[in-house]
Amino acid sequence: MAEGEGEGVMARPDRGPLVGLPLLEDLPPVEGRRVLVRVDFNVPLGHGPSGEVVVEDDFRIRAALPTLSWLTDRGAEATVCAHLGRPKGMVDPRFDMAPVRARLADLAPGVAMLENVRFDPGEEANDPGFVARLVDGFDAYVNDAFGASHRAHASIVGPPALLPSAGGRLLAREVGTLGGLLVDPDRPFVAVVGGAKVGEKLGVLRALLERVDALIVGGGMAFTFLAAQGHSVGASLFDAGRIDSCAKLLEEAGGRILLPFDFVALGPRGTIGEGAQGSGEVRMIGADIPRGWRGLDIGPESAGAFAEVVVGARTVFWNGPMGVFEDERFAAGTRTMATAVAESKGFSIVGGGDSVSALEHLGLARRVSFVSTGGGASLELLEHGDLPGLAALRHASNAPTTGA
Ligand code: 3PG
Ligand code: MG
Repeated sequence: MAEGEGEGVMARPDRGPLVGLPLLEDLPPVEGRRVLVRVDFNVPLGHGPSGEVVVEDDFRIRAALPTLSWLTDRGAEATVCAHLGRPKGMVDPRFDMAPVRARLADLAPGVAMLENVRFDPGEEANDPGFVARLVDGFDAYVNDAFGASHRAHASIVGPPALLPSAGGRLLAREVGTLGGLLVDPDRPFVAVVGGAKVGEKLGVLRALLERVDALIVGGGMAFTFLAAQGHSVGASLFDAGRIDSCAKLLEEAGGRILLPFDFVALGPRGTIGEGAQGSGEVRMIGADIPRGWRGLDIGPESAGAFAEVVVGARTVFWNGPMGVFEDERFAAGTRTMATAVAESKGFSIVGGGDSVSALEHLGLARRVSFVSTGGGASLELLEHGDLPGLAALRHASNAPTTGA
């Protein structure tokens, strides 16, 4: 992965969601100007050696550096604003920006950071008064918060109506890369979608089916599809209210949805635990899961078959784990998938916190073509072809005219 790329001027595409988006070059001269930069620094926190709260993974902070240096190299005074967690419009010390600010100070000295925008109820409510206070004193606005641009919140959609605005380098790279999947991906194009909740992902599965040659479904969400095919799912997670939707998708897909056909399952009184802390009997099981048993990972036969499809693809998009991988007994399927995505010679894109952390734990993140900083945002962009934050930028007074 070539991080820090994108310093040069981007060629303007004529299709896809980048069209009409003002980029950094479209800003008035920034020298001596105060620029507000919305970033997605919603990062995992942990504890340092003496118990202090520290940033556990600074991927999203590093990803914003090309934009910050573009601005400061040109003499702008950059101030970033971001959210952390979901403090629900109240000051909550657990979501204080201090650890993030400290990490940013190491990586981009001289760049200031405002307090967590979600400490104010005006942020999520997209309150015009909050937007006005936020932009007060600034001359320009940059949105580099790709991972939060599916939220129509004040700091994302408000400023472009008030200040000359631009999408930053990260935002442009994300939108260009993911948008490329919507325009003309090299084929075969294979999508791998996992995770627990099928309800949240039906929309994106439907959108992906319009474009992919194969859609691999793993993780807890696979059981609702299996139930729709008449398999018994035992005590596995499944969504009875969505069986009909899954059946319909299977029918529309005409064989392009690939479902697991063997599982690693946990016995009736077993428990899930971090690493090696779980308990109970674990067995390899075929497509039908017995009563009381829970399928918690795809089995080795399925993983092998899926890996073969992924390795042969020329474009791969992966979002969501294949099993409960934080429990070592149910990690193999996700590991096999991560390895296959990394080994694929095609163009590979991975999005979503869990898939990205699986790749990182395996040391494979550098071997995929593109790691997205957005989970929900990448899925919504694929589903709708646009995001609220992008639409707002296109309406900025300095946005390029597209001839449309
Ligand atoms: C994320 O971490 O997915 C983004 O920063 C968005 O956060 P949210 O889901 O709390 O809006
Ligand atoms: Mg999220």
